[in-house]
Amino acid sequence: MKSGGILLTTKNVTKRFETDDGLLHAVNDVSFDVRQGEIFGFIGLSGAGKSTLVRCLNLLERPDEGTIYFDGQDITTLSEKDLSLARRKMGMIFQHFNLFYQKNVFENIAYPLRLNGHTKEEIDARVMELLDYVDLADKKTAYPSELSGGQKQRVAIARALSTNPKLILSDEGTSALDPETTRSILQLLRRSVNEFGVTVILITHQMEVAKSICDRIGVLEDGRLIEEGPVEQLFVSPKQARTIRFIQSLEEEIEEDDLEALSGGRLFRLTFPGDSSRKPILSDLIRRFPVDVNFLAGNINVVRSGKVGYLTVEISGEPEEIENSLAFLTKNGVNHEEVKYG
Ligand SMILES: Nc1ncnc2c1ncn2[C@@H]1O[C@H](COP(=O)(O)OP(=O)(O)O)[C@@H](O)[C@H]1O
Ligand SMILES: [Mg+2]
Repeated sequence: MKSGGILLTTKNVTKRFETDDGLLHAVNDVSFDVRQGEIFGFIGLSGAGKSTLVRCLNLLERPDEGTIYFDGQDITTLSEKDLSLARRKMGMIFQHFNLFYQKNVFENIAYPLRLNGHTKEEIDARVMELLDYVDLADKKTAYPSELSGGQKQRVAIARALSTNPKLILSDEGTSALDPETTRSILQLLRRSVNEFGVTVILITHQMEVAKSICDRIGVLEDGRLIEEGPVEQLFVSPKQARTIRFIQSLEEEIEEDDLEALSGGRLFRLTFPGDSSRKPILSDLIRRFPVDVNFLAGNINVVRSGKVGYLTVEISGEPEEIENSLAFLTKNGVNHEEVKYG
């Protein structure tokens, strides 16, 4: 589904906490837009302010400053009653599922519908539909303790979807799951976007999760949104040096041992956007120029829009030949960024 209009806008949202070390800006002057029908991810290290930000979005946490427009309303000014109506348009999923352990699967999913005063018939029909949707019809009467992590998160997603929300907030919704289960949960979220037009704001500290599912990503660092953009742009041509460092720190590419093995050349991080990762550009380079290329680290990242490859290489040779090699790379669509070391 193509993204529609703006569903959520935050302007200058700030949340401070008093701590023993003084005032902490957990969320610091954060502004962004999320369009209807997109999956917007926030990534950041532990303590970056991700959970606080998401709690501000549904006003579980009152921001000290800033406004939050959701579905056409500034929700920071609503009365408690109107706020609770607005919150019904937001579903939430968590790392540890937050199911009711004394209720069975059916009752967990039915819970928001009961709060909303639906009839028994409506509730039965809707819950059965959702159970089919998340492929758990046979677990209707099971209790959460009898389910795997992936199944629990499916119940949580069904519960979050039960009232037809416009927005799903996921705070580390896949962080407790193994990689295969993570993939199936992400697919379920993507399917919900495609089929119901729901919008997802997804918070994760896992780069792979952000890359594989998000349309756009924001990077949080010490409470600040330091960069935001389409997923491919963020990985291929980040605007901020800090983002590059952040991505590198998550990928932990270069091992200490590799640095010790360097032979005095210059170190570059090469990025192969889109199609170029399938062409033999580096073997061409080695044939054409009298330089040595020492491969240190790399991976081919599959982002949603295609393949993006990274390689960290040491190039040694005459200074002029190194420059010629770099020009050749640029001509072939390979970006390079020198990595300082030592
Ligand atoms: N209720 C609170 N009181 C004081 N400090 C808090 C509170 N909630 C979060 N923090 C602090 O705010 C910062 C951001 O936390 P959090 O939003 O949980 O980060 P993340 O989800 O990115 O790991 C951390 O330094 C955390 O210790
Ligand atoms: Mg968190």
